[in-house]
Formats: sequence, C-alpha cells, structure tokens
Amino acid sequence: MSEPIVIAVDGPGGAGKGELTHRLAEALDFDLLDSGAIYRVLGYAVRKAGLALFDEDSVVQEAKLLNLSFECMDDGVHVLLGGEDVSSQIRTEEAGNNASKVAAYPSVRQALLQRQREFLREPGLVADGRDMGTVVFPRAQVKIFLDASAEVRAKRRCLQLEAKGKTVNYEEVLKEIQERDDRDRNRPVAPLKPADDAFILDSSDMNIEEVYKAAVDYIVKKTGLKIDL
Ligand code: DC
Repeated sequence: MSEPIVIAVDGPGGAGKGELTHRLAEALDFDLLDSGAIYRVLGYAVRKAGLALFDEDSVVQEAKLLNLSFECMDDGVHVLLGGEDVSSQIRTEEAGNNASKVAAYPSVRQALLQRQREFLREPGLVADGRDMGTVVFPRAQVKIFLDASAEVRAKRRCLQLEAKGKTVNYEEVLKEIQERDDRDRNRPVAPLKPADDAFILDSSDMNIEEVYKAAVDYIVKKTGLKIDL
C-alpha cells in the first residue's frame, strides 16, 4: 500500500516557509502542519498559566495537556487553545522567542512528536518546521530546506512590522533573529539543520514566485505530482 506523501519544508524563521507551504498545500489539496504554531501555543499556554519557561517539568506537563486545535476560516487557519482563538497572540516576536525556548527541551519535543505525526492523512501533508525532514517525518518523499541569510530575513521582518504600523530597529531585529537561530541550531535534540537528503533552496536573492517555482520544479521531478504554477 502506498503511503501518503509528505513534503517537509524546514528552515530558519523568516526564510519564507509559511508562504511557500500554504501555496503548496493549496495547490496540492494537502493538509498543512504548521509545527511552529504548536511550540508558539505551548509558550503562550505556559506564560498564561503563570509558569516559568525555564522550568522544564512544568513546560512538559503543559505540553502533554495542550488542548490545541486548528480551524480553517475565511481569512486563513486560526489556532485555538482550549477553544480560545490565540492566532494573533502567538504571532508576536515575544511568542516566537518563547516558542524557541520551550522547543529546546528534549522532553517537550518527545511529548509533541506523536501529535505532529497524527496530521498525516491521505493524500498528503505539507509540513513546515525545523525538524520535519530530520525527526518528525524522516521518510518524507520530499525534503526542502529553505534558507536565507540572517540579514535578508531581518530586512523582510522589518518590512512586515512596518506594514503593520510598528516602529522598527533593524539592528535589534537582526540580533533577535541571530539569537533565535543560535538556540534552534545548537539545541541537543532535533536541531535546525538540513536533512542529508534535503534540497537546499537559498531564498536570499529570490522573491516568493521564484521560490515557489523552484520548489514546484523539484517536487514534480521527485514525485511526478502535477502542480499548477
Ligand atoms: O516557525 P516558527 O517561527 O513559528 O517557530 C517558532 C519556534 O518554534 C522556532 O524558533 C523554533 C521552534 N520550532 C521548533 O523547534 N521545531 C519546529 N518543528 C518548529 C518550530
């Protein structure tokens, strides 16, 4: 029996994984796993419960009990924690940093592993994260590592924040990105790194159309799937 297809897209924050994976999932009519959202919700739940991010035992208890669901609405996928829509609360810089901290605990990653694998259904899954191709779905038929320099990612982030009317400081944004990269790359379990058999796509000098086209070309060649450009 053939297995559902997994397209694993890993890489650092700000490389463009979100846009790429949304477009691929829509074009293929596959489910989408935004694994970063799970760690973001966990960080949010820990803070909301008044617990400390550095207390691994408390964080792992929260991870085991995490009442999380994703809901498709007209304006995209919303994330619910115990029925409360926390989509906007988990998208802040602070929530990203808190997610990176709770995600560094091996016990927490273990507690969330099966929950992520349960997203896999016919006909297939597009999985967005840091360890989709290395740990969660090591047998994924397609593994893409979408990278971009920290400087380019910081510039993109500044533009996004400015578009939301926020005042930004490029140096500060760059420093936060570098700190988060360091933590994600150097943790003992499931560090951010390309799988040995990953296609490495550096988006530093590419726009989203070019990234999408390069990813589609690779997926079509690798799997024979038909995807509209
Ligand atoms: O992709 P994101 O920015 O939403 O992820 C937030 C943090 O969650 C990221 O800095 C590290 C962690 N993360 C992880 O450790 N493993 C994943 N598969 C996805 C995210």
